[in-house]
Amino acid sequence: MKPKLIVHGGAWSIPNKMIDPHLLGVEQAIREIYPLLEDGMSALDAVERAVNILEEDPTYDSGRGAFLNAKGEIELDAMIMNGADLNMGAVASLQNLLYPISVARMVMEKTEHTFLVGKGAQEFARAMGFVELDPRELLTERELEFWHKVRNDPTFETRDVFRPQPKGTCGAVAMDENGNLAVATSTGGSPRKLPGRMGDSPIPGAGTWADNHSAACSVTGWGEAIMRVVLAKHASDLSTTIGAMEACRSSLHMLKTRVDGDAGLIMIDRHGNYGFAHNTDRMAFAYWDPDKGLVSRIEA
Ligand code: GLY
Repeated sequence: MKPKLIVHGGAWSIPNKMIDPHLLGVEQAIREIYPLLEDGMSALDAVERAVNILEEDPTYDSGRGAFLNAKGEIELDAMIMNGADLNMGAVASLQNLLYPISVARMVMEKTEHTFLVGKGAQEFARAMGFVELDPRELLTERELEFWHKVRNDPTFETRDVFRPQPKGTCGAVAMDENGNLAVATSTGGSPRKLPGRMGDSPIPGAGTWADNHSAACSVTGWGEAIMRVVLAKHASDLSTTIGAMEACRSSLHMLKTRVDGDAGLIMIDRHGNYGFAHNTDRMAFAYWDPDKGLVSRIEA
């Protein structure tokens, strides 16, 4: 079976001047990882490695470049899932780590648990040998400036960022040559969030879901709405009857009508079909098309 790979770098009103870096990052993830998938890499390795590339990139709201919370600190959430056996690993409120998605994978593979948060997740990452960085190494001038702008603004709401402000959760979905699906999502959440706030990304079925019997799906957008409708699982289940593309579109319609949510989704269904959709102005994403090769888009 020909492998498939799709990644996203967030859905929001990406300004014209930020289009190029948004596209370059998602293109790089596909360029580096797709050939490895063709050489037999597993879907699980592929999504972790692809998200690592996006976590390193200061353009996006994950790893380096993430938003600051109300205290001016970065707190990171991530989840990885294997569609073959429904195994999953997730972390929330991690600090000073560049690769939260790899910590999530360690939770999945090295513990009897699926989800670690806060202090426990931090201690686990340390025990697994992840290097903790000086917080300034994850911080960008862009986010610091933005934080100073909104920190005392009484009119600012965290969901505003899904309108014309910087934001960009990252995610990757892959199908390997054996037909196995996997997904990974990594985020800094929303700006000026309360310390301890967790979004949809690490919640199974909300921002991240993979099941070989239906689809694998990574979501980006306003987490408080996405988790209310368990969007990634909803869309994946729907794909079994209406296919990946229609499932993404229909799920966004449900999100908007039920909870006034704003989001974007990427998906590969169990037959290897791609799906992508957003109801924000733009979404940065890229995938490998069997005929056209690398395709990158800023709008679906
Ligand atoms: N979708 C990312 C978040 O709300 O945390």
